[in-house]
Amino acid sequence: MTRPIRATIDRAALRHNFGVARRHAGVGAGPSQADAPPVGGSESGLRARGAIKSARLWSVVKANAYGHGLERAVAALADVTDGFALIELERAVRLRAAGLELPILMLEGFYAAEELPLFIEHRLTPVLHRLDQIHTLLAAGWPATLPVYLKLDTGMHRLGLDAAGLAAAMAALAGKVPDITLMTHFADADGPRGVAWQLERFATLTAGMDLPRSLSNSAALLRFPDLVTNDWARPGIMLYGGSPFPELISAAELDLQPVMTLQSEIIAVQTLAAGDSVGYGCAFTADRTMRIGVVACGYADGYPRHAPTGTPVLVDGIRTRTLGRVSMDKLCVDLTELPAKVGVGGTATLWGRAGETVLPADEVATAAGTISYELFCALAARVSVLD
Ligand SMILES: Cc1ncc(COP(=O)(O)O)c(C=O)c1O
Repeated sequence: MTRPIRATIDRAALRHNFGVARRHAGVGAGPSQADAPPVGGSESGLRARGAIKSARLWSVVKANAYGHGLERAVAALADVTDGFALIELERAVRLRAAGLELPILMLEGFYAAEELPLFIEHRLTPVLHRLDQIHTLLAAGWPATLPVYLKLDTGMHRLGLDAAGLAAAMAALAGKVPDITLMTHFADADGPRGVAWQLERFATLTAGMDLPRSLSNSAALLRFPDLVTNDWARPGIMLYGGSPFPELISAAELDLQPVMTLQSEIIAVQTLAAGDSVGYGCAFTADRTMRIGVVACGYADGYPRHAPTGTPVLVDGIRTRTLGRVSMDKLCVDLTELPAKVGVGGTATLWGRAGETVLPADEVATAAGTISYELFCALAARVSVLD
């Protein structure tokens, strides 16, 4: 017998969501701004560089494809995407060893000079974000035929070159590495500040440089498809069916389908009398007679421990709620209003699809004060993942 918890990955949904990204990446062909989620920001007048055209797409598959399984996601998308973007060098090498020919973008570049022979051998495109990396790269004999990305800091203040760094980088690369894409990352594409302020800085920094650009994450792609011209966009969460703005617009409203379904079973049923508590800390106390189900899923499976009483869950496809504290291997759900036949062996869907009913990971994440990204990435290694 194996423990009943499992995650199921719907490759067709992944491909569907990629198709949504593709639709939004056609600049001028996507929904108008009137269709964009009402999250504020003032982007008028920032229709950037040139003619109507489509962006190519890096499918972001870092962190084991946001917990969905790198090889699985790559297999599902390889014939539709234009490239894959990730962070982990050993995984990129694994993709090349498995025969992947598409471009691979390394979003944090390289960390030490010793990695560069692997970058060269496997044709991995580094994102260079510090000037010293450019000197290291050139000293390592970077071939003129291989592309690089230069990341510019336009306000996120994590990684990226400033104006002086960019000028020095361009001077150092001149005549040696011609294939340069200019990249930045948006800090608040899903929030009230939007992207205009960063686009302005980007335009100032890159004035006079006629080079390809890579700008948009999922939020920017969905929200500003006709205002942010990208040569290469970098959608991540939307591919996995998460809304970048779940409190304003749902994944379903964005035509995104859930890719990961996390399910387990009820392994015990308890009847509580009024005044009885359940779980650690006696954090939930019944105020009447209640039936509760004990589900084989806990924080050691990746379910958020901080999910409070009331977090939504489906039991045999019927929506109900969690009760009390999530423990390492178990959590409790309210069966009081469910049909009496729902009991041991019943299916608990923690997020994802149960037949026709969907419990968006976004809803669980919101209840737990986090984001679907974190739920997906936290899926524990002990959970079997099925197709
Ligand atoms: C540099 C970069 N580009 C793109 C993405 C994809 O972002 P999202 O998953 O919000 O679409 C990420 C994710 O964090 C990132 O770090």
